[in-house]
Amino acid sequence: MNKQVVVITGCSSGIGYLTALTFARNGWATYATMRNVQSTGGIKLLEITQKEGIDLNILALDVTNQQSVKAAVSMVLTRCHKIDVLVNNAGFGYKAPIEQLTIENFNEQYETNVFGALRTIQAVLPSMKASKSGKIINISSILGLISVPLFGVYSSSKHALESITEVLSYELDKYNIRLSIVEPGTFETEFGKNVKGRAHKTEENKSVHNSMARLMRLKINRPKNAQIVADKIYGIAINPNPNLHYLVGTDAIILNLLYRLTSHKFRKFIFRLIK
Ligand SMILES: NC(=O)c1ccc[n+]([C@@H]2O[C@H](COP(=O)([O-])OP(=O)(O)OC[C@H]3O[C@@H](n4cnc5c(N)ncnc54)[C@H](OP(=O)(O)O)[C@@H]3O)[C@@H](O)[C@H]2O)c1
Repeated sequence: MNKQVVVITGCSSGIGYLTALTFARNGWATYATMRNVQSTGGIKLLEITQKEGIDLNILALDVTNQQSVKAAVSMVLTRCHKIDVLVNNAGFGYKAPIEQLTIENFNEQYETNVFGALRTIQAVLPSMKASKSGKIINISSILGLISVPLFGVYSSSKHALESITEVLSYELDKYNIRLSIVEPGTFETEFGKNVKGRAHKTEENKSVHNSMARLMRLKINRPKNAQIVADKIYGIAINPNPNLHYLVGTDAIILNLLYRLTSHKFRKFIFRLIK
């Protein structure tokens, strides 16, 4: 098997869906994994695969379930004998004040965004180490680099993923395994629809919700076409010497810069001002 092999999580919609198509259309043996293979996205991918004759394979994989991760990775290894690239894309976000979230809510967020990625990484590492090659591309967020009200649990999960990715990049260097982390700004996907925690919007925190809504309406934060993120991920996969960090979107680049250039006291002043 000479084709390059990629495994991507969370392909039923959004960035994962577009990334799977991008790899497959570029001739990769693509394993587009998702929790529900009968999802609208799964069915659409199947139709495109049949129409275009691309090597896109849909596999069931729930990143919160160890058995499911192991079974999917074993299946790919049995068929292809290698995995060149793993893209950890599956994720969702809570939008609620930290004070109102339970430990169970935190667990649920971390199970997908942090432990989910760890499970797939641990499943592919033995084969990547044996072949002394491989790339792992984790999808974080601009909120993995900056912290804002209401996105505390989501942001902290992505900060954890940032740290894990950097540490692994040092630990796996001797095996020639490259790690990269992608930090998108706001893109058009199902992410907003899938946000959890709406029930936590109360009279007490209404003003924070309103000020964050005002910030999100700023021109810079308008959602962009998620194909830009898919193309960036593909670019990292074919780059022989990729960087660790990739901010995607002018919003992500500007927000990151502003965050680094301002003090905490100044940022607190701004949040008070827009209330
Ligand atoms: N869109 C943005 O503006 C943005 C910005 C920064 C970062 N991101 C990150 O980009 C990644 C992709 O999100 P998206 O924007 O494309 O949103 P999306 O359209 O909601 O896609 C998220 C994908 O993750 C999957 N998923 C959730 N929990 C899963 C689990 N336990 N096991 C397997 N798959 C699971 C979803 O599957 P189901 O259909 O089964 O729920 C869906 O396929 C996420 O990690 C997100 O944090 C997005």
